[in-house]
Amino acid sequence: MKPVIIVNFKTYEKATGKKALKLAEKIYEHTKNSKSKWIICPQHVDIWIAKHVKIPVYAQHVDALEPGRGTGYITPFSLKAYGVKGSLINHSEHRLPLKEIKARIEILKKYNMVSVVCANTVREASMLAKLKPDYIAVEPPELIGSGISVSEAKPEIIEKSAKVVKKQGVKFLCGAGISKGEDVKKALELGADGVLVASAIANSKNPVKVIKDFIRGAEL
Ligand code: G3P
Repeated sequence: MKPVIIVNFKTYEKATGKKALKLAEKIYEHTKNSKSKWIICPQHVDIWIAKHVKIPVYAQHVDALEPGRGTGYITPFSLKAYGVKGSLINHSEHRLPLKEIKARIEILKKYNMVSVVCANTVREASMLAKLKPDYIAVEPPELIGSGISVSEAKPEIIEKSAKVVKKQGVKFLCGAGISKGEDVKKALELGADGVLVASAIANSKNPVKVIKDFIRGAEL
C-alpha cells in the first residue's frame, strides 16, 4: 500500500479561495508521479476546487444528514456532488460526541465515501477503531501547529496506536507538527500507513520544497 499523505488546508489564508486552487494544483503537479498517495482537505467554502483538480479531495468535516431540511449543515450527498471522496471526522479542532462520530462513519459508508476519524490519544484511537472507519488518525493536540513532530516528540503514541488500530483492521495515520521528510519517514517506520499535515504545507512560503521533502521521506 502506498503511504498516504493528507494535507489539511484548515482555514489558513494561504490556502483559501483562489490560493486553495493554486495550492491544490501545485500539490497535484509535484506528487502525481510519486510513490505516495496525496489527498487534500480544503475548507467547505472552497470545496468547489474539487471540480477543477485531479488530486482526491476530502472534506474537513461532514454532518450525518440526508438532503432536505438542514440549514447550515454539510451533507455527504452535497460533497459527493462536487466529487469529494471522503471526510475527516472529529478533528481536534472540531470535536464531536461518540454517537455523532458513529453516525458520520455510517452515512459516509452508505455514500461509498472514506472516513478518517481523528483521535487525541491511544485510548481514544483504540475505542474509535471499533467503529470501523477507514482510517484512524492520531494527533496529540499540544503538538498541532507546533512544528515539533509527533514522530520525534511522542514516538510511543504512534507505535502503540498503530498496534491497537491495525488489530481492528483499520488503517492508521498520525499527525501534528510533521514538517519534513524525516518526520514522515519516522512515522512510517513506527507503523503509520501515512500522515496528516497542515501548517508545514498549507501555511508555507515554499510549499513545493516541503512537498518534495515529504515525497523523499515517504520513499526512504
Ligand atoms: O489535520 C492535521 C493537523 O491537525 C496537523 O496540523 O499544522 O501540526 O501539521 P499541523
